[in-house]
Amino acid sequence: MLHILSVDDLTDDFLFSLWRDAGKRRGKSNSFLKGKVLTNLFYEPSTRTSSSFYSAMSRCGGSTIPINNVQFSSAAKGETFEDTVITMSTMSDAIVVRHSENGAAHKAANVSSVPIINAGDGNSEHPTQTIIDGFTIYNSFNKNLSNLRVTLIGDLKNGRTVKSLVKLLNRFDNNHFNLVSPKHLKLSNDLPKSYYETTDINEVLEETDILYVTRVQKERGSVHSYSLTSDQLNTLPSKSIVMHPFPRVNEIPTDFDKNKRAKYFDQIKFSVWCRQILLERVMK
Ligand code: CP
Repeated sequence: MLHILSVDDLTDDFLFSLWRDAGKRRGKSNSFLKGKVLTNLFYEPSTRTSSSFYSAMSRCGGSTIPINNVQFSSAAKGETFEDTVITMSTMSDAIVVRHSENGAAHKAANVSSVPIINAGDGNSEHPTQTIIDGFTIYNSFNKNLSNLRVTLIGDLKNGRTVKSLVKLLNRFDNNHFNLVSPKHLKLSNDLPKSYYETTDINEVLEETDILYVTRVQKERGSVHSYSLTSDQLNTLPSKSIVMHPFPRVNEIPTDFDKNKRAKYFDQIKFSVWCRQILLERVMK
C-alpha cells in the first residue's frame, strides 16, 4: 500500500514518471478510476487542494466523498480522528487528509486500511503541492531540477509547501537557496545544503531563477505582512519564474499576473494533471 505522507515517500523515479505522464496527458478525461471512491477529509480550509483532488477523481471516472466541513461531521460530536479514518477507509479506496496537527497523516496511516495522502499537516509538509511545484519547475527549466537559484520569501517557519519543496530540491545538484523572511519567521529545521539568509528581498532578486512566494500563516499565529511591487518583480532575470502555492493575500500585485514569469495560475492548472496520475498510481 502506497501512502504519500512526505516528500520522502516520492522517489525521483516515481516523480519523473508521474511528471512525464502528466505532461503527456494534460488532464484529459479517462475511465481509469471508474468505480473507485476517494474520501477528502479536510480539518482545515482549502480551495485548490480539495477541489483539484475532486476534479482529478472525476476526470478519471471515479467519485469523491467530500468531508470538507468537519463541523458537520461526527468529529463535532467528539469522534476521534482515528475512528473517522477507520470509518472512511471501509468505504473508500484512498483518503486525502488535511489537518492542523503535525504528523496527522502518519497517525491516519497507522489505522487506515487504504492509502493516505497528506494534503498538509500543520506546519510540517504538503507533499502533493511539491509534486505540482516540481512539475512547474520541470516544465519551465527543460526537465531539469539542478543548478537553480531559488529564492523563498514569506513565512518560512510555518510554510509547509516551502519545507516540502526544500526537501525535494535539496536532492538535486548545485541548487542554492536565498531564504528571505523576518527574523521571527525564519526556516529553522531541515536547512538546505547551500543557502543565504536575509531580511531584504532586494539583495537577491537579480540572483534568482525561481522566486517562490508564500503568504504569512495567520492561522498558526504568525504576525507580519509584506507586498512585492511590480517594479521589484521586474528586476528578476528575464528567464526566471515566479511561483506561489496560493492562496495569495497581497504578496504579489495582480498587475503582475499577465507577466510571462508568473507561473502561479499554471501551478493551479497543473494540480489536476498531476493529481490524476498520482491517484491512478496510489489506487492501482
Ligand atoms: N495550495 C494549497 O494548498 O491551497 P489550498 O489551501 O486552497 O488547498
